[in-house]
Amino acid sequence: MEKEKSADDVYQMLSESGYADRAIEYFQSKKNIGIIEDADQVTDLTGPCGDTMKISLKIDGDRINDARIQVLGCPGAVASGCALVSLAKGKTLQEAGNIDLDGLYRELEKMPDQKVHCARLAIKTLQKTLEQYQGRQTYRAASGQK
Ligand code: FES
Repeated sequence: MEKEKSADDVYQMLSESGYADRAIEYFQSKKNIGIIEDADQVTDLTGPCGDTMKISLKIDGDRINDARIQVLGCPGAVASGCALVSLAKGKTLQEAGNIDLDGLYRELEKMPDQKVHCARLAIKTLQKTLEQYQGRQTYRAASGQK
């Protein structure tokens, strides 16, 4: 049976294919991976490549108190998703919705060019999550629910 790849081997592979240390760190630490059990909003999105991300948010007023992500996808998707929810934590809904590709890349530092769509998928998933949450809030306000 083939020996399981060590973290060092994986680091080497990702580094050689164009990931910055910071992006690899997000991928390997799996920071913010998971789901918030009592989340205020949970939304998923599948990209054209077939990879899926699911974001859960804990929101207080208009501020994101906690954010987690589950990713069925490539290392670029995992690194992007982990970095994005890390950036979103503590931000207002509007600030989080304004995180763009440049902002996410500043956090990741560098990924291979062909992985830009993975970062885009993370941003689209967060935007869809925020839109659905705000849509529900608007509906509640209109129907008099708390
Ligand atoms: Fe699909 Fe990276 S290949 S998100």
